[in-house]
Amino acid sequence: MTFISCTDVVKVYRIGNVEIQALRGLSLDVDRGEMISIMGPSGSGKTTLLNILGGLDRANAGTIMVDDVSLGFTPVSELVNYRRRVVGHIFQNLNLIPTLTALENVELPMIFNEENRGARTERAKELLGIVDLSNRLQHKPDELSGGQQQRVAIAAALANDPPILLADEPTGELDSETSRIIMDYLLRINREYNKTIIMVTHNPIVAAATRRILRIEDGTIIGTYTPAQMGANAGQVNYVDQLRERISKLNRELATLDKRIQKGQINGDEYVKERLRLTASIKGLEDEIHRHGG
Ligand SMILES: Nc1ncnc2c1ncn2[C@@H]1O[C@H](COP(=O)(O)OP(=O)(O)OP(=O)(O)O)[C@@H](O)[C@H]1O
Ligand SMILES: [Mg+2]
Repeated sequence: MTFISCTDVVKVYRIGNVEIQALRGLSLDVDRGEMISIMGPSGSGKTTLLNILGGLDRANAGTIMVDDVSLGFTPVSELVNYRRRVVGHIFQNLNLIPTLTALENVELPMIFNEENRGARTERAKELLGIVDLSNRLQHKPDELSGGQQQRVAIAAALANDPPILLADEPTGELDSETSRIIMDYLLRINREYNKTIIMVTHNPIVAAATRRILRIEDGTIIGTYTPAQMGANAGQVNYVDQLRERISKLNRELATLDKRIQKGQINGDEYVKERLRLTASIKGLEDEIHRHGG
C-alpha cells in the first residue's frame, strides 16, 4: 500500500538571478513499512528530496502525499507538528548536541511534546536499548565512537515514534565494518518496528542491503534496481574501481618507500615495518576485489 507518494515534484532554488532546478518533475512511491535506498551523483537532488519529505523545505510544484495528507497544502504551523510526529531525520554529520549525554540527546525531541519527565527518560532508555547502548547513557557524544554516536542519532530519530525515518548518508563518515553495523540496526528497525525508511547513500554495498534502490540524476528518478541488478550495474563496478584506485595509490607509496631506503632517508626497521603495512593493505584490498568478482 502506497504510503508516501511524490508526483512531478519541482524544486527551484534562486540565488540572485540564478535559478537552480534541484528537482525536475520527480515522482516516487514508497509503501508503508518499505525501506529503500536512493543513490545518485553529488548535486542530483537527494538531500533536497529528503528535506521536502521531512517538511524542512517546500516544493515549488507537484504533489507530495504522506498517508493521504498533502504536504503541499499543510499550513506552516502544522508542518512543525509533521516534523515532530511523522518523520525522524538522521544526518551524515551526526546531529547530536555535544554538551548533552546520550540519554539527554534522545530525550530532547520529546521535550516539545507534553510528555512528563519520567516517561521521557524511560522511553529514551528503551530506545538506547534498541541500539544496544544501555551501558552508555551518561556518555557525551565525544566520549562515544562514530558508530555509537550514529546509533544515538537513530534512537533520537525514533523518539516520538514517527512512522517514517529519513536518513541522509547515515554511514557517510563511517568505515565499512561500522557501516554494516549501522545498516543492521536500520534494517532491524524497519522490520521489527515497521518503520518506513528512505535512505540516501553513496555506497553501493550499503544500498544493496535494501530490496529497492532508486537512481536519481539531475533531479529525477531515472531507474529502479534490485540488489542483484545493482551487482551487474555501475554501482558495483564503481566500488571495485575505487578499490583498484586505492591499490594504485598504495603501490605508489611502496615505490616511494623503496627510493627512501635507497637514499638512506629511513632505517631498516622503519622500512620493513612500513613495507609490511603497505603490502598487507594491498593484499586486503585485493581480497575484497576478489570477493566482489573483480
Ligand atoms: N539552499 C540552497 N540554495 C541554493 N541551491 C541549493 C540549495 N540546496 C541545494 N541547492 C542546489 O540544488 C542541487 C541539489 O542539491 P542537493 O543538496 O539536493 O544534492 P545531493 O544530491 O544531496 O548532493 P550530495 O551528494 O553532494 O549531498 C545542487 O545543485 C545544489 O547546489
Ligand atoms: Mg546531500
